[in-house]
Amino acid sequence: MADRWFNETNSAELVVERLKRRADGALPKFLVSLVEHLHLAVRETRPTAEDWRHAIKFLTNVGHASDDRRQEWVLLSDLLGVTALIEEINSRRPKGATPNTVRGPFYRADAPRLPLGANISLDGKGETLQVRGRVTDLDGEPVAGATIETWQANAQGFYENQQPDLQPEFNLRGVFETGKDGGFHYRTVRPCGYGVPADGPVGQMLGGIGYPLRRPAHLHFIVKAGGFETISTHVYDAGDPLLAEDALFGVKQELLGAFRKQDAHWALDFTFVMVRARKERRAA
Ligand code: BEZ
Ligand code: FE
Repeated sequence: MADRWFNETNSAELVVERLKRRADGALPKFLVSLVEHLHLAVRETRPTAEDWRHAIKFLTNVGHASDDRRQEWVLLSDLLGVTALIEEINSRRPKGATPNTVRGPFYRADAPRLPLGANISLDGKGETLQVRGRVTDLDGEPVAGATIETWQANAQGFYENQQPDLQPEFNLRGVFETGKDGGFHYRTVRPCGYGVPADGPVGQMLGGIGYPLRRPAHLHFIVKAGGFETISTHVYDAGDPLLAEDALFGVKQELLGAFRKQDAHWALDFTFVMVRARKERRAA
């Protein structure tokens, strides 16, 4: 029996045994894996009791910094790559389809619907960027009537809802609809890369150890069409030097767009490739 008392070697085993006596299900299964990995990490890194009190204090602060307007837990999940991993597992798509990536905290559901060609830069500050694109299915057939919601940071790297006193409401946001040829186009300004919020416990902790907190320049899109899986993604500036160090691990080859200089302005051409909604894919 003596070897059944809790000790450094059998700690995870004993906890796991207790968990496994409980009903099966996703939560006990997740807890088993979590306990095994957590005990291993503690054995390997040997924190002192004081180190552990610091860790608990950090988690307490993350909770206190989270409310309806700010989600510090989501930021922690994003920066440790967990959000990107969950996305990878759950929205795997066939080759050639546009993948999803992290949506991020700056989305607003109520952006204005605009006619094709409209300018979403309401303060005109920055270098003009002409965005043109198409929405197609996997066979390259146009998807007419798809809605394209877009939002982005300005030329200084700030979203309109981060600077409500400095930027016009709904600056750099809009919802467009593709024409018969699946095409859409609008005008905006070239976005700039930016740092994720570093004024909370997560940014301070990770910034304090020199962890990358910057994001390369990107545009956000949500593309919806009846009978197709919704795409929630970014298009990144393929020339941005920060691509390999994206703080959120959101960059994928298929999401790189060529921002080209044309005379006095910039131009981007991008095709979103949608896949049939899962039910319909199975039936096909
Ligand atoms: C963003 O890309 O908008 C973003 C996503 C997660 C954390 C911070 C910013
Ligand atoms: Fe963003």
